[in-house]
Amino acid sequence: MKTVHIGAIGCGNFGLSIIRKLLACDNRLKVSAIYDPDPRSVADAKALLGADITVCADHRELVNLPHLQWVMIASWNCYHAEQVIDAFQAGKHVFCQKPLALSAAEGLAMKQAWEKSGKMFTIGFTLRYSPHYRKIKQVVAEGAIGQILSMEFNETRDFNHGGYIMGNWRRLRKNAGTHLLEKCCHDIDLVNWIVGARARRVASFGGLDFFLPENEHRINEIPPRSDGKRAYCTRSGLRRSVENPFTAEKDITDNQVALLEYDNGVRATFHTNCNAAIPERRMYILGTLGALRADVLTGTIEMKRIGFDAELECLSTEGKGGHGGGDQVLTAELADSMLRHTPPSVGLVEGLEAAITCFAVDEALDTGTVVDLSPYWEAF
Ligand SMILES: NC(=O)c1ccc[n+]([C@@H]2O[C@H](COP(=O)([O-])OP(=O)(O)OC[C@H]3O[C@@H](n4cnc5c(N)ncnc54)[C@H](O)[C@@H]3O)[C@@H](O)[C@H]2O)c1
Repeated sequence: MKTVHIGAIGCGNFGLSIIRKLLACDNRLKVSAIYDPDPRSVADAKALLGADITVCADHRELVNLPHLQWVMIASWNCYHAEQVIDAFQAGKHVFCQKPLALSAAEGLAMKQAWEKSGKMFTIGFTLRYSPHYRKIKQVVAEGAIGQILSMEFNETRDFNHGGYIMGNWRRLRKNAGTHLLEKCCHDIDLVNWIVGARARRVASFGGLDFFLPENEHRINEIPPRSDGKRAYCTRSGLRRSVENPFTAEKDITDNQVALLEYDNGVRATFHTNCNAAIPERRMYILGTLGALRADVLTGTIEMKRIGFDAELECLSTEGKGGHGGGDQVLTAELADSMLRHTPPSVGLVEGLEAAITCFAVDEALDTGTVVDLSPYWEAF
């Protein structure tokens, strides 16, 4: 089989991390061209991919290179819609990082361009590929806890990761969308998938209450890490320095709660916070026949059936930590789509459903109302 030529748009931390794992899957996969406006990212990409790689002047030049079959997009979220649509119009298959888009109108335009192109689309919902969440989905789908009645889920970020979010491009809605969209669209997607329905109405409260200039003193109050790194200002493994997370201008929330009611009657609560001493990505699902409790950061999955003598069963998988091992599975399946045209398991429809749910939750937050999602789903 011939080489599959790939073009990469956006060569920052996660873009290159996924490319590194993808290329390790099969030596017939080759990233032949890149575009990134930041020369530091171009230099990093050349160091990984070789100095002779084609460096394009803009994303349009890249998507129109005739020898490319696939385009991988890991730019800032505000560029996803235009870059994905241009790639489809140039006849390319597309892998794009989450979130899909910054508005429902953008997402719907992407859906139209995808349908018209007849090409494949995969979204970087890496947690969907984690053995941890695949196990939860399987246990629920097999009926082990009966019908889901209600559930809680959360994504509370380690304080230092919170500082990273509040100091880089993600802190501004014009670049990334809201915090819920940028970071928690993963969690919303997982619950859409596990519940197996669309949200019908939502409510939310939230705000920016900690990453403010008056709390900057916390940087100096917390003893530095053993390697000298200061709290809130750095995150290991990242190549880019970021602004001071307390004084930088920003318009996203650092804590938010939401209520969701799904079409099949399931009710859920969600909680996110960017200053967690005990980070969690936890689910607690109550069904007619039992309950399931899980946290991907510790890798724990526990299940118990209703009954006086029932015992807590441990169903934990090897999926554990930040993405629960999802990145490796995602890249292996992406390689399979690229080499053997296997249809992606998570695509544009799921990306749009998650994004729309986030838009509605943030509309509820911004307007202080309960938002009915029917107009969104009718447009869909
Ligand atoms: N799936 C996941 O779990 C996951 C994890 C992290 C990041 N992401 C997503 O990946 C994307 C990149 O995030 P990151 O953490 O790598 O950020 P990053 O800041 O490390 O890298 C972003 C890169 O995009 C480049 N860029 C900016 N404008 C661009 C444009 N117009 N065209 C092309 N490139 C452009 C920047 O120069 C930078 O090199 C985001 O959409 C983010 O949400 C997904």
